[in-house]
Amino acid sequence: MDKEINNILLKYDYALEILKVEISYLIKEYELKHNYNPVEHIKTRIKTIDSITNKLNKKGYELNLENIQKYIHDVIGIRIICSFLSDVYDIVNLIKNFKHIIVVEEKNYIINPKNSGYTSYHLIIKMPIYLNNSIEHIEAEIQIRTVAMDFWASLDHKIQYKFSSFIPEEVKKEMYNYAVDIKNLDCKMLELNKMMTKYKE
Ligand code: GTP
Ligand code: MG
Repeated sequence: MDKEINNILLKYDYALEILKVEISYLIKEYELKHNYNPVEHIKTRIKTIDSITNKLNKKGYELNLENIQKYIHDVIGIRIICSFLSDVYDIVNLIKNFKHIIVVEEKNYIINPKNSGYTSYHLIIKMPIYLNNSIEHIEAEIQIRTVAMDFWASLDHKIQYKFSSFIPEEVKKEMYNYAVDIKNLDCKMLELNKMMTKYKE
């Protein structure tokens, strides 16, 4: 059992390394073509076994290979932080058109924010990894968002998201309002950038 789990974690590790290289290539190619880099930075992480166990327990399942593969879609997490709102959609399209992976789930929390106010674009993708005698398919969650959305989400994570205990209504409300502020800022920055692009031309 332990060996089985270690073996799947090894495969997730392998898949993440490949995905990092592929995504960074896609972005460099985009940059070359458009003479513009839409990405501020990229963060990646692999869920720890403790975190996988917790998430499974919360969903009412025990830790085993089958349950990890069936219920945990974000063992691999990649976060692409873009400059402007339009960059988020460009990167989403770049990934959706990439032939090496398939998108199995797409959530646009920019158009439909979560109740908390959280905004981001999520893709769950599947990618092949080539093993000794077989090909396996590994899932990963890719979150694409602007620096402003990332600012909100990072602080929200610390202020309320990780708390399973009681959160006062006024805190929730205030955080929601800040998310709206962030959205307005993103729209204004995009407009300014469009205006300046025209000037430069
Ligand atoms: P699980 O994947 O099972 O957690 O549920 P789900 O599929 O409904 O989750 P979803 O894909 O909507 O979001 C998963 C990830 O988005 C989380 O791991 C967080 O990184 C992020 N996220 C979602 N909601 C919030 C939120 O309210 N605040 C913050 N800071 N992050 C959020
Ligand atoms: Mg999810």
